[in-house]
Amino acid sequence: MQFSTFNKNLANWQGTSLIFGVFEEDIESQLENIKFVIEPELLIKKVKQNKFEGKKTKTLSFEFLDQKIETLTLIGLGKSKGIKINDIKNSLSEIIRKFVDKDEKISILLPWELINSKEEIIHLAASTRLSSYKDNRFNRKRDEKKILKEIEFLNLTKFNDISFKETESICEGVELARRLVAAPPNILTPKEMSIQASKIAKDHGLGIKILDKKECEELGMGAYLAVAKGSDLEPKFIHLTLKSQGPTKEKIALVGKGLTFDSGGYNLKVGASQIEMMKYDMGGSAAVLGAAKALGAIKPEGLEIHFIVAACENMINGSAVHPGDVVTASNGKTIEINNTDAEGRLTLADALTYASNLKPDSIIDLATLTGAIVVALGNDVAGFWSNNHDLAKDLKDASAEVGEELWQMPLKKSYKEGLKSHIADMKNTGPRAGGSITAALFLEEFFDDKIKWAHIDIAGTCWTDKNKGINPSGATGFGVKTIVQWIKNK
Ligand code: BES
Ligand code: MN
Ligand code: ZN
Repeated sequence: MQFSTFNKNLANWQGTSLIFGVFEEDIESQLENIKFVIEPELLIKKVKQNKFEGKKTKTLSFEFLDQKIETLTLIGLGKSKGIKINDIKNSLSEIIRKFVDKDEKISILLPWELINSKEEIIHLAASTRLSSYKDNRFNRKRDEKKILKEIEFLNLTKFNDISFKETESICEGVELARRLVAAPPNILTPKEMSIQASKIAKDHGLGIKILDKKECEELGMGAYLAVAKGSDLEPKFIHLTLKSQGPTKEKIALVGKGLTFDSGGYNLKVGASQIEMMKYDMGGSAAVLGAAKALGAIKPEGLEIHFIVAACENMINGSAVHPGDVVTASNGKTIEINNTDAEGRLTLADALTYASNLKPDSIIDLATLTGAIVVALGNDVAGFWSNNHDLAKDLKDASAEVGEELWQMPLKKSYKEGLKSHIADMKNTGPRAGGSITAALFLEEFFDDKIKWAHIDIAGTCWTDKNKGINPSGATGFGVKTIVQWIKNK
């Protein structure tokens, strides 16, 4: 998929599907602007017949099979006064999904005079592309359906030298994350995840290390390996390195929870716990690998970036971890596993220790860590915790710029009490109340506290059933855009 522009005389334009944005005011004169595809008189008549008034979210489509184009779709933008770029983005996002499977190329003509900056156009392009995303990998329609290959903007003369290259890379990162998350657990295994990571490394020149079970044992990763023990599939510890262009000013580690399936272990997920959805328990690592793909293409200056995933499955067999086992993480701390379903933090314990040993300036981890965060913030907002005010602010700003919502949660120290164990240094779970906060407090035990750190719990946001805004139902790829923007802002 690519973006293109057509800035020449529109009389010479050729295409099949045109989307045209219309305000409520003086529709007739606006329709003059598309006389290059259809006679305004004819169109005005049809618009009146159909009572299309350009109201927000209203659309009107025409098929012109034997004329210059095949489909013309008018989208209502509402009143022009006080119009917000987000309104245009949302109208376009909703309509664009209707074209998926039908066309290889769609062209868009909007009243560009309303858009003030290149950044706004670029964000609009990205959200248009991401809302038209479609995943046909696992059904038989995959060979019949057309794939949208090009989104063309007409008459963008106002921003003549606009480049979509960077936003294309970011969209590819988001789409990779979506594909990884949506892939079923029999396909996206820890091994397959390591293959996907190797592919990113090869395509973009990143360094790669994949540690197998034995190498993880040698590093003493007892918490991570305890989770992996109950599965027939070997764990894969993935470490990608993007070296800096020019001298390194800053070192960053991104860590993602990578449970390719979470059955809960012997604390099996029963009842309404949605065990059948737990393929998406690698949403954090998908965001990290998506960011690796995007940043591998963008190659930001002066930054050395590490991408770390302790991939495995949480399953049950005769050698699976027992509820009550005590294990030792690679930093020497002992953990009583009082609940095998709190496995993500165990894998992150060793992944964060590994990241900490690389001595980065900051660590950000992303994880589908707790059901508690879904209860607290729902499906549109991710919770985050940080030990550093500046990092928290920068992350929040970056997320606002790209339209991914973050809400800061407290690292309430007194709740650590809940993780006290009678037998080990700590338990892996505390009381039900404040469950996502104790999870964050648990993670804080596994890196050097001089390192700036943020933890983003994406359990609610990495998947949607709603088909709303820029997210078709399914995997959202949440986190990729925020991480990349945070890094670009450095
Ligand atoms: N992967 C789950 C968290 C989760 C729940 C993600 C719902 C997405 C939707 C995690 O491993 C888990 O099971 N957490 C437990 C922790 C509890 C045992 C303390 C939870 O949230 O119930
Ligand atoms: Mn779990
Ligand atoms: Zn989990």
